[in-house]
Amino acid sequence: MGECKKDQKPFSHEKAKTFSCNSQTSFYWLISKLIITLAIIFSLQFILYPLNLISSSPPRSLIKTDVSLTGSGIPKPEQQTEINHVVFGIAASAKLWKHRRDYVKLWWKQGMNGVVWLDKHINQNDTVSSSLPPIRISSDTARFKYKYPKGNRSAIRLTRIVSEMVTLLNGTESEKNVRWIVMGDDDTVFFPENLIRVLRKYDHEQFYYIGSSSESHIQNIKFSYGMAYGGGGFAISYPLAKALEKMQDRCIQRYPELYGSDDRIHACMSELGVPLTREVGFHQFDLFGKVLGLLSAHPLAPIVSVHHLDIVDPIFPNMGRVNALKRLMSSARLDSASLTQQSICYDTANRWTVSVSWGYTVQVIRGVLSPRVMEVPTRTFIDWYKRADDKSYAFNTRLISKNACQRPRVYYLSNALRDSALGRTVSQYVRWYDVWDPECDWNMADPSEIEQVIVYKRPDPDRWNKDKAPRRDCCRVLPMKKNGTMVIDVGACRDDEIIEFSVK
Ligand SMILES: *[C@@H]1O[C@H](CO)[C@@H](O)[C@H](O)[C@H]1NC(C)=O
Ligand SMILES: *[C@@H]1O[C@H](CO)[C@@H](O)[C@H](O)[C@H]1NC(C)=O
Ligand SMILES: *[C@@H]1O[C@H](CO)[C@@H](O)[C@H](O)[C@H]1NC(C)=O
Ligand SMILES: *[C@@H]1O[C@H](CO)[C@@H](O)[C@H](O)[C@H]1NC(C)=O
Repeated sequence: MGECKKDQKPFSHEKAKTFSCNSQTSFYWLISKLIITLAIIFSLQFILYPLNLISSSPPRSLIKTDVSLTGSGIPKPEQQTEINHVVFGIAASAKLWKHRRDYVKLWWKQGMNGVVWLDKHINQNDTVSSSLPPIRISSDTARFKYKYPKGNRSAIRLTRIVSEMVTLLNGTESEKNVRWIVMGDDDTVFFPENLIRVLRKYDHEQFYYIGSSSESHIQNIKFSYGMAYGGGGFAISYPLAKALEKMQDRCIQRYPELYGSDDRIHACMSELGVPLTREVGFHQFDLFGKVLGLLSAHPLAPIVSVHHLDIVDPIFPNMGRVNALKRLMSSARLDSASLTQQSICYDTANRWTVSVSWGYTVQVIRGVLSPRVMEVPTRTFIDWYKRADDKSYAFNTRLISKNACQRPRVYYLSNALRDSALGRTVSQYVRWYDVWDPECDWNMADPSEIEQVIVYKRPDPDRWNKDKAPRRDCCRVLPMKKNGTMVIDVGACRDDEIIEFSVK
């Protein structure tokens, strides 16, 4: 609608001039010309309006329209949230920044807005400025009470980042564009496109506090199921951030006995009466060991973040932590919306169950396991208190099968490419040789014959749009053409296609 309005203005203005020049002409001539002009303007609306709907990149002109239409009574077309509407606040420390910044470099791109908050100055002459956010030093917090035994009062500095950013933005030109403040740690890796997909679902002009709980049930009992865990990251709508700024310093003084920065935010949110809006794609990772089980059965929601990357095992085995994340980013670049999304199917001839976590792993298991089993994460990790039973977690988990025959064969992503000609992605997964190679006496083909798996999939950037209900993709094992290579097609389920084992 923006260009339409813009195009009209000079046009009708010219016409008005013409009218005044022809003031001598007859009244009827004037009226008929007026009617024709109005008719032209009216019909132009219908010609230009659909053109605008088709045009694919209207953001700039839409901003202008917002301004020009304000107060006119016409509902303003809302520009959808983009990454430049977000300001990141990264909680960091001088001591660890040199190492932790490698995590931030993985996801930070030029053009993003945000600040890394440190406790003191560091020599930054060896960093490329555009590949990292600017650094600021938090203001002094000596006046605040901190009474958590054996805690670290840097928690107060970190909790105040939201307020310090509101103050920083206050009255600036860039403030007009800010919709969300997103907090994360220096060891948090975001998937920015998925973060935006989540934020688009919410009205940034209202009060929203969006994030997720810990994986550890005990953590959530100790802190709260209503708290957004800081390392997983959380988003605060800008009006709410401003409301928080007004009261945060008073609020903090009421909770000197709390431990961290995120529980202080939660305490203040409770005073503001704003609940946590839970989005399960934020991952705190209060875990030790392999996150394989969790990321191979990701909930049906976009993966927004991963955290505690120095604590959990590397995302891919036998690699450095940063390089492993780089590999995950390589598939994220091709189809971020589908990253780690699980699909389940069966190799009918072999009676195997196949589970794809797109861009991350493929698992092949002897026997037919139902989707209701396969969608539950296996406990390849232990919880924050080093416990490993099913009651330790804030979600359902299951044991990796005790039956040696049903141990999954795991294939990790090795490569992902875009096949532009066919409009699809091709990802390759290679067999991970566990130390442990079980004996199995079932009279049944061994999935170990499969050395690699190739997955074809069309990118699906709109799968999380507001008007779409979440649904698991379907996968189909294609006929084997080459010994040792399984080929799978993944995509939206077709009409009447369901996940069932069927002998054709
Ligand atoms: C508190 O954390 C900072 C880093 O943020 C660290 O330098 C300092 O040693 C810690 N203090 C204590 C008492 O653990
Ligand atoms: C920064 O530069 C100075 C001299 O140019 C050098 O001596 C110093 O080691 C550098 N610091 C870092 C952290 O690279
Ligand atoms: C923002 O600026 C206004 C005007 O200078 C000032 O009154 C207000 O206190 C500022 N707010 C913050 C949060 O800095
Ligand atoms: C695949 O390999 C097996 C054993 O390595 C062999 O028996 C079989 O004939 C091969 N099949 C094809 C299609 O090459």
